[in-house]
Amino acid sequence: MSIQIIPAKNLFTLHTAHTSYQMWADERGILHHLYYGPAIGDDDLRPTEFYSDCGFSPNPAGVEVRDYSLDTMSQEYTGCGVGDYRISCLSVSNGDGSPLADLRFVEAKLVPGKYSLPGLPAAFDEDGDCQTLRVVLKDPVTALTVTLLYGVYEKADVITRAAILENGGTGTIRLHKAASACLDLPFGEWELIHFHGRHCMERQPQRAPLSFGIQTLRSARGASSHHHNPFAILAAPHTTEDAGDCLGAMLVYSGNFKIECEVSQLHSTRLIAGISDDDFCWTLAPGESFTTPEVLFSYTTGGLGELSRQYHRFLQHSIIRSPWKNRPRPILINNWEATYMDFDGERIYNITRQAHELGVEMMVLDDGWFGERADDTSGLGDWWVNEEKLGCSLSDLIGRIRALGMRFGIWIEPEMVCRGTRLYAEHPDWVLAAPGRTPATGRSQLVLDMGRKDVVDCLYGIFSALLRDNDISYIKWDMNRNITDLYSHVLPAGRQGEAAHRYMLGLYDLLDRLTREFPEVLFEGCSGGGGRFDAGMLQYFPQIWCSDDTDPIHRLKIQYGTSFGYPPCTMGSHVSASPNHQSGRHTPLNTRAVVAMAGAFGYELDLGLLSEEEKAQIRTQIDTCRKLQPLLLDGRYDRLTDAMTDTCFTAWQLTASDASRAAVSLVVLNPQANPWPIHITLKGLDPDAHYRDSRTGKVFTGAALCHAGLTLPILSGDYTAVQILLERTDT
Ligand code: DGJ
Repeated sequence: MSIQIIPAKNLFTLHTAHTSYQMWADERGILHHLYYGPAIGDDDLRPTEFYSDCGFSPNPAGVEVRDYSLDTMSQEYTGCGVGDYRISCLSVSNGDGSPLADLRFVEAKLVPGKYSLPGLPAAFDEDGDCQTLRVVLKDPVTALTVTLLYGVYEKADVITRAAILENGGTGTIRLHKAASACLDLPFGEWELIHFHGRHCMERQPQRAPLSFGIQTLRSARGASSHHHNPFAILAAPHTTEDAGDCLGAMLVYSGNFKIECEVSQLHSTRLIAGISDDDFCWTLAPGESFTTPEVLFSYTTGGLGELSRQYHRFLQHSIIRSPWKNRPRPILINNWEATYMDFDGERIYNITRQAHELGVEMMVLDDGWFGERADDTSGLGDWWVNEEKLGCSLSDLIGRIRALGMRFGIWIEPEMVCRGTRLYAEHPDWVLAAPGRTPATGRSQLVLDMGRKDVVDCLYGIFSALLRDNDISYIKWDMNRNITDLYSHVLPAGRQGEAAHRYMLGLYDLLDRLTREFPEVLFEGCSGGGGRFDAGMLQYFPQIWCSDDTDPIHRLKIQYGTSFGYPPCTMGSHVSASPNHQSGRHTPLNTRAVVAMAGAFGYELDLGLLSEEEKAQIRTQIDTCRKLQPLLLDGRYDRLTDAMTDTCFTAWQLTASDASRAAVSLVVLNPQANPWPIHITLKGLDPDAHYRDSRTGKVFTGAALCHAGLTLPILSGDYTAVQILLERTDT
């Protein structure tokens, strides 16, 4: 049983294959957190709790026991204003104006299978791996009821959490903060690893010890953002890639979020994750409820590499819905960095024809095919095909491309509108903008209020028709600015604090409808590159454009950071031109391809400008990519170097799930004169099996490759890359 309930003690233990999680409700109804870590069997861990008469830590009403204080206890989900001064899950104002919630245990129930969260993306359970624990807490005065949901995935070593807050009383309750989960770690030193960045340099890992006080990771941009990712890791100080304790907290949410960590006066660590409370206020009239997004927790003693693989497997298996998740993705050519918006149908067809000759399988027509969109200052919202610009109808263009045997994909940016469009003229109140104020623009565009049903229905009509009327195999769904002027014309003044989350609910509704109706269409998410790269989006998009920076040397760091939480097959990654358009750096074509093959592969350059020799290289790259795709989709991913600190080279490894094949990729960053050897030890191979090295034909055991390693010949020149394929052999 993955969930064990001992009613006499109100003791609840969640078991996964390698971890345990324990909590108990005391006689006063406080739900204590006891433990999350390596499996401890059925032991009752209450004796590990620490009580002390801590000065200035108050005792709850009616409790004259000096060492009993909410301020010092580890809890599962905190109330607010009643004696715990640390960061809290909740912030409320009750009908009488009081900012208090005192949560007491009511009941706990085991429910078979995995709970779902209406309107929100959440993990599902296709294999019967999950059981749910529902724990109900209640404030005795306002009757605010908090139902804590725990999804226990035994084999996956993942515990999901979410909360439902319901107003069971008679007064109106305003939620100013409603976190998804709290994780109190009563003991231990922890280091925080998080993923910060900016446009064109997303998800850069940073690791630092937590110190007394609060550290906050957040987005208030209306999207999960380039700047902070809704994923954090707590690692014990000794933890490396290959060993040591670490746990992750990943939000299944794509909007404003907050992950906070506090080290308390008694040296315990509290992590709280959920929707950001910045400008958030949700009104709960009597009988109404609010459901928080989900958080995915995972723990391992096997180091950061194993934690990443736990998330990779889980997202692939239980978050991504698309049937494409297990299928080799078509190798695509995208015209963005080849033409930007300067194209017509003939130019697109020529690019497609050249790509087809080299083995590319799909053409993606990027921004600029619709409305009066000559550049990025106009046109968004007018989703009629600009036949004058194309010189043909969309179906004619698609027909010619399909006649080559190629698939066709197209770019859209549904959530936005530009001034000067018909859509804006007809529906000026559909944008987020407050009365009497001119809203800020970003990339000359305004944001549609996705919290409005009429907006979502209209967009559904436009894009379902686009997909129904055309032979489209792929959609790139972009979002090129962050939200300002958060004001919805359909919400009353007192409910404007709901607009940001209602935007996300409307967006998820639209994504849900379109992806369910067109399951065979491969959707790729995008937000100016990786500005919305999160588990919420992955529910609908099996891949996300990782960054607008296609410089392969920058991509080494971006893809490295992204790999801590997200599987490599979810990272859209393309070969672009040299010199690179973002950085001006020159790199070899081979290096660009080796880096792009660590993700969902494609090309994004004018193939007509390439030499015959380069075209021959592309044919070989496409063959190699097809060989690697099964490893990418179903294999194990290992970071062999630290891309942030190792200055000589960056290397990574993909290994088939049965360890029959592996591919090691390596990019030299800094060639040396009179060089040291380049030497790498591999990971995850079968120690007793023999593997043939494709470059040299030499055979080594897995044990030799993982311990003695490989020594490479001198790699000189700028940014040289090698790819080593290893096949298990009987000889
Ligand atoms: C931002 C995307 O990340 C790019 O790849 C491209 O699609 C542009 N938008 C088009 O406007």
